[in-house]
Amino acid sequence: MLAIGAVASVVGVAIALSIDWFPTRAAAKVNEIDTLYRVLLSVSVPIFVLVMTVAIYSVVKFRARPGDMSDGAPIHGSTRLEVIWVTIPFLLVTGLAIYGWVVLNDVEAKQQGETVVKVRGQQFTWHFQYPGPNGKTVDSDVLYLARDQPYKFEITTSDVIHSFWVPEFRLKQDAVPGQTTHVRITPDRVGTYAVVCAELCGLGHATMRNTVRVVEPNQFKAWLEQQARGAAATAGGGAAPGGGAAAGKQVFTSNGCGACHTLADAGTSGTTGPKLDDIAAAAAKFGKQRGLTAAKYVKQSIEDPTAFVVPGYPPVMPSFKGRVQGAELDALVEYLLSVSGGKGGSG
Ligand code: CUA
Repeated sequence: MLAIGAVASVVGVAIALSIDWFPTRAAAKVNEIDTLYRVLLSVSVPIFVLVMTVAIYSVVKFRARPGDMSDGAPIHGSTRLEVIWVTIPFLLVTGLAIYGWVVLNDVEAKQQGETVVKVRGQQFTWHFQYPGPNGKTVDSDVLYLARDQPYKFEITTSDVIHSFWVPEFRLKQDAVPGQTTHVRITPDRVGTYAVVCAELCGLGHATMRNTVRVVEPNQFKAWLEQQARGAAATAGGGAAPGGGAAAGKQVFTSNGCGACHTLADAGTSGTTGPKLDDIAAAAAKFGKQRGLTAAKYVKQSIEDPTAFVVPGYPPVMPSFKGRVQGAELDALVEYLLSVSGGKGGSG
């Protein structure tokens, strides 16, 4: 049994370590986490293999032959064996727990000059808020990050439990109602990734993904300043007469509508929700059936998305009531109707 177990362990560990388990490494300390995983795997495989070897060997060797009705020999326990099989797992598990704690402690350590980004989960999207220039804040539904900048993500939720997870950064943290949880990450590789919700949170759980863009620090700075200007422009009166559509495009972009909706004018290609390139005609038609103008129909669809669900699409769009309102909402409606062939005018 020991010989079979030893050979099977060597083969098992070799196979386990040869498999590339992990997605791209895109943050500092990812190697530490991956090494921890490989150590756990290397320790677990021999135990699994030895237990299975003993079990299979015993089933084959000591099985009852046909006609054999006799009982096994009476066994009264073995103190030495029991001490051994309690002590070994105890030492193993304690050692691994200490190793795991050391890694976790290092990964969670406060970093010099870290930026706090507020993360809010909501059925079924993520919202991010950055400290902007001049004490202002910048909101985005795309998680822009500067390479090599340490971040502390402060995580909350507007409704149920979600879990903030970017597989390329490895770490995961729950968003719990009534609490602020946090996780520290320093992205170190430029690229596009995804925040994935890792806690079953309702019908749209599988669609709860937002884009992460790790960019060079100067690009990040430019983006942040541009967002701050854009927010100021819409907050300060928003839709100027005739200029509503342009402001609406900014509202469309900054609220991440394109993550789920295709709209050629905004260059987006999401497929979770209906395509918006022909929303004007659809809104006119379906609005008329309900005695609404196209603008009212679109407006209500943004504030109360479950009111009119387009067949074939899951009813997963969060309400934007209170998030996009007043002049911003009017501008968004005007924009959507104008770029899809309607006359605009948001009433
Ligand atoms: Cu949010 Cu799953």
